[in-house]
Amino acid sequence: MFPKLSRHEIDSNLHQGTMIRLKGRLSSSPNAFQRLLKGDFTQRFGRFLWFRQMYSTIQNLRQRLDGSLQKSAIDLAIPSMFGNLSTDSFVREVEDRSIAFGLHLPESIVNECLQYATQTICTEPGYDRTFLISDLDERGYLPDGHQPIRALVSDVEKCSSISNLSRDSVLLKIARNYLRYLPTQITCHLTWSLAWNRSDDRLQKLYPPTNFHYDIAGYNFVTAYFYITPVLDDRSGPHVTILGSHKRKPMEILLKSGRQTDEAIYRYYDRSSELYVYGDAGFGFFEDPSCIHKVKAPTRCHRLLLQFRFS
Ligand SMILES: [Fe+2]
Repeated sequence: MFPKLSRHEIDSNLHQGTMIRLKGRLSSSPNAFQRLLKGDFTQRFGRFLWFRQMYSTIQNLRQRLDGSLQKSAIDLAIPSMFGNLSTDSFVREVEDRSIAFGLHLPESIVNECLQYATQTICTEPGYDRTFLISDLDERGYLPDGHQPIRALVSDVEKCSSISNLSRDSVLLKIARNYLRYLPTQITCHLTWSLAWNRSDDRLQKLYPPTNFHYDIAGYNFVTAYFYITPVLDDRSGPHVTILGSHKRKPMEILLKSGRQTDEAIYRYYDRSSELYVYGDAGFGFFEDPSCIHKVKAPTRCHRLLLQFRFS
């Protein structure tokens, strides 16, 4: 068993992941008053479409006026592993439907991510010990009797494939064209959702992403997701999305917390707009995570997901 972590160590494991922070981010000052003076009064306004669009317009103008920002993004990008994907139609699809498909990781990259995630220590929010996935017994319990629900793989930036993917020119181009400015922060997360056989009610309390919700992850943002383990049925942890909901939310959902009950969502959105996303290992997609979405918790096998958030 690995040693206990201090609160600070856990927080930094949970929040650092791989983070690339570029020059030109409005929210870079640690001082709230300075952020206020720069127009950065609160990220919570990121829930409103009009606010995200306004932020994009301001960032776009700033970057046009400062050529060095363009150069720093070009220095960052490396040749893509996704060939000549049509990024224009891809971006239009995210704009219209919240989500677009057509990315796939080579098998060698999938294997490297999987190997890294099985050999690297993990943390779980609210649990003060680190562990390896191989520490779990066949029922999903650790030797101390704790049953984790998710496991966040540490030091993701040390995996060279993930580090390269975070600078992939096609991913950056999609993010830039969707956001209408060069993303100034890129975060990477490699997360196990662990198979769980208890009641849904208890799970939804312990693992918030299994509830319908929308993310407020900055001022404007878009995320690339890759399944590292196959997700081929409801029992292996599919991502679930309400199509088009990034642009269309009723006021009661916009003003309440990001987390929603199924009933509240089905009251407003037609069931035909609910999409379960299935794919083999390496399957990838882009989504605007301000849409309503959730993970259907896996019950048959652990799910490993790689995410890149551009903001
Ligand atoms: Fe989310």
